[in-house]
Amino acid sequence: MNRMNRREFLTSTSALVAACSLPMSLIEICQAKTADSFTFAFISDSHITHIKGNKFVRNWDKGLMKAVAEANLLTPRPDFTIYGGDLAQLGTKEELDHGMEIMTGVRGKVHYCVGEHDFYVDLGKAWQEVTGSKQYYSFDHKGVHFVVLNSILTFPEWMADSKWNKGMDRMKQMARLDNPKGSPFMVGEVQREWLEKDLAKVSTNTPLVVISHSPLQKIYKGWNFWTEDAEEVQAILKPFDKVTVLYGHVHQVQYNQIGNISFHAAMATAWPWPYPSSYAQSASYLPVLTVKMNRADPFQERDATGWQFINLHSGDVDVHYELANNTNRVVAFNRESGRPEDTAYQLAQHQIAAQKHY
Ligand SMILES: [Fe+2]
Ligand SMILES: [Fe+2]
Repeated sequence: MNRMNRREFLTSTSALVAACSLPMSLIEICQAKTADSFTFAFISDSHITHIKGNKFVRNWDKGLMKAVAEANLLTPRPDFTIYGGDLAQLGTKEELDHGMEIMTGVRGKVHYCVGEHDFYVDLGKAWQEVTGSKQYYSFDHKGVHFVVLNSILTFPEWMADSKWNKGMDRMKQMARLDNPKGSPFMVGEVQREWLEKDLAKVSTNTPLVVISHSPLQKIYKGWNFWTEDAEEVQAILKPFDKVTVLYGHVHQVQYNQIGNISFHAAMATAWPWPYPSSYAQSASYLPVLTVKMNRADPFQERDATGWQFINLHSGDVDVHYELANNTNRVVAFNRESGRPEDTAYQLAQHQIAAQKHY
């Protein structure tokens, strides 16, 4: 793997940057050299919000537009892009159409994962139509097996149309961060069976990348940073030598290692959520390996938002967090410790002090 340093990278892209005057926040880029070494972009949680008529919340539009424009500047080009879910805020056709209009600007193939904000108004019908995507599927790329799951399902009786006056009532319960009348996310039995069958065809030394919207680990139930059957899904993934789970939903940098599985969360292009532990009254199950980002500054609309580009080499995943208004972060797999690490911020004295708001 060759790493281009910042100067080389900026020289090679300066013409492009000058041409479109986009802020260029990329630090480094890795050149794919071996069969299973490549990069892809990961964009998530844009929460495109319809106001009325042709009016949409400008800030959320801008977040997605910026991510698309920056991802298009990557050199070499990423092999594809993954969208991590919550393209829309309330899953309406208007929001999904508008989100897809922006997403059509992405160069190359996009693989879509469904989020609860795309789903609960009509159980994914409009989302499937607009994205042309299945709710769960797999594909192979350069020796790596990718699986995309719908991890935001819940109990069938909670989802049933008969329980609700309108699909939008169901959506509004699930669309809240602390959703006291919501229901825990789950992959569910049908999909777990499908996953077992899908993986039966794959040799256990094939690197596996699993995309889900909610974390396939239990972080904090009060905010549904949680998947109820996470352990059962992890058990299906256990026979594989090298597994990485990439997820959206939490709108913040998180990473963890459980056995053979590395976990990485994506930032949102829309807004950052606080870390659960910042609520003193709530129990927090934030992975101990995660070095938290400082709190977002509410006076900077793009603060603590961004997108990711991912370098995958021999099954190891390095996630490059491209932030709009903050220093970029890299969470890279450390082969010696056998887990993802944010080396630049690991020491307490290197961590950024919390911002003060008055
Ligand atoms: Fe979200
Ligand atoms: Fe979500």
